[in-house]
This record gives sequence, structure tokens and C-alpha cells, in this order.
Amino acid sequence: MKIVVIGGTGLIGSKLVKRLQVKGHEVIAASPASGVNTMTGEGLAAVLTGAQVVVDVANSPSFGDKAVMEFFQTSGRNLLTAEAVAGVKHHVALSVVGTERLQDSGYFRAKLAQEKLIKDASIPYTLVHSTQFFEFMFGIAQSGAQGDKVHLSPALMQPIYSDDVADALTDLVLGSPANGVVEIAGPEPIRIADAVASYLRQIGDGREIVVDDKTRYFGALLDDKTLMPADGVQLGKTAFSEWVKTATPPPAR
Ligand SMILES: NC(=O)c1ccc[n+]([C@@H]2O[C@H](COP(=O)([O-])OP(=O)(O)OC[C@H]3O[C@@H](n4cnc5c(N)ncnc54)[C@H](OP(=O)(O)O)[C@@H]3O)[C@@H](O)[C@H]2O)c1
Repeated sequence: MKIVVIGGTGLIGSKLVKRLQVKGHEVIAASPASGVNTMTGEGLAAVLTGAQVVVDVANSPSFGDKAVMEFFQTSGRNLLTAEAVAGVKHHVALSVVGTERLQDSGYFRAKLAQEKLIKDASIPYTLVHSTQFFEFMFGIAQSGAQGDKVHLSPALMQPIYSDDVADALTDLVLGSPANGVVEIAGPEPIRIADAVASYLRQIGDGREIVVDDKTRYFGALLDDKTLMPADGVQLGKTAFSEWVKTATPPPAR
């Protein structure tokens, strides 16, 4: 089966591409680097020819409110229009657990706009809602950085390892369209401040942590339910407490 992975060079995309290739599928890792740009439409019609499944795991290069909305709306429209022309049978997209509860955030307003485009389109779909990736701990720290301090919310989350995200996506991509949302998460809840603090300690980042329940998560206030999955969530196997023992600093960008 021909499967096109939009954002196939990213953290999740690259792991997903490998897993699908091992299973014998014809998999294209599509991204601007390979001449496929969902913002401009460049290369889309050609790469989608003969594709049965499209997976969208792209992310906006900028998290500014206006830029991120433009990215997910324009990319979503271009991609879904091109998929309809190519006769794609299943559109799989990765979004975030709690997106609908995080609407004070420009990033999550853009993710919800992306989801609406998918639901309103004619292509059968599976919307995968994941919790925070383990590898995103530094991103959370940077969003709360103020001088030499890191402000963090004590709210609960249930983060997941990127390998477990890619494993779950592989099964969902090869399955039938859910025409709804499937939630995935890691095996254990942990407070944001505790998870980020243990990651920063592990990589030798000595900044002071300030735990404050008024700290916003990319613009949105949190309580203990906002980022947590519902009953029936599919759980990954890797525990954050094990992963963090060997975690390394994020790659330089
Ligand atoms: N971070 C989290 O904790 C988390 C949790 C749940 C869900 N998610 C969702 O997971 C998805 C993937 O995240 P990730 O961390 O794997 O992303 P990532 O590593 O930042 O990769 C982003 C990918 O998007 C591609 N891309 C950027 N602009 C593009 C364009 N104009 N056209 C086509 N492709 C483009 C990039 O290509 P280049 O390499 O060529 O730039 C790259 O392959 C996102 O949609 C995010 O919302 C994230």
C-alpha cells in the first residue's frame, strides 16, 4: 500500500516511516526538504498520486498565534483538497489530548481548526489525540522560562514516549478509519513541574523551578483534568520515570 507521511522527517514522522517500511509498505516521507510543501501546495499532487493513506504529522515552524493558525488552516485545506482529487481512502492526523479544553491558547485554536477541516472533509479519517511527548519536556521548560527561572504548572499530565506514539500510529494507519478521535497516552500520570524538573536535572540544567498554578500552558490555564486522557485511552508501555534516567539534551536547532 502507498502511504504518504506529511512531516515524515520530524520526530514522530521519521519513526513512523521506518515502522511502515519494515511492514513492506511503499512509504513516502514528505516535507519541504523532499519538495512537498503543504503551505504552498508544491509537490502535493504528484506525491499523492496512487496513495491510499495520508498521515499528517507536520508541525508549524512558528508557534506565534497568527502564524500557527495560518499553517494549520492553509496546510489542512491544501492537503485535504489534493487528497480528494487523488482519491485517498484514509486521512490520519496527530493532535493533542485536551485540544478542545485549551482554547485560550493560539496553538490549540489552530489545532482545533485543523481538526474541524478534517471532520468537515469527505475523506474517511482517524484523529489521533496524543498526550505530551517525553521529548517535549524541554519545550515546556522553555515556554515557562523567565530569566534564570523556569515557571511551571503543577497540573497533571500523562506524557508518552515518541516510540510508543509511532507504534500506536502504525496500527491506526494500517487499520480502518475511526471517523472519530482515538486517544493515546503514557502509562503514568505525573505533575508537569515534577516531570520537567526531573528532565532538567538529568540534562544538567540547573535553572530554578518555580511551581505556580497560574502558569499558563502555551497561553491556557490548566487544572488536573485539562491535559489528561479519558477512560478507554490506549496506553504506551514506556514509563517516564525510566526514560528520564537516560534522557539527553534536545538536538541543537
Ligand atoms: N509535542 C508534543 O508533545 C505533541 C503532543 C501531541 C501531538 N503533537 C502533534 O504531533 C505532530 C508532530 O509533532 P513532531 O514533534 O513530530 O513535529 P516535528 O518534529 O517538529 O516535525 C515537523 C514536521 O513538519 C514538517 N513541515 C514543516 N512545515 C511543513 C510544510 N510547509 N509542509 C510539509 N511539511 C512541513 C517538517 O519538515 P522539515 O523537516 O522539512 O522542516 C517536519 O517533518 C504535530 O502536529 C503536533 O501538534 C505534539
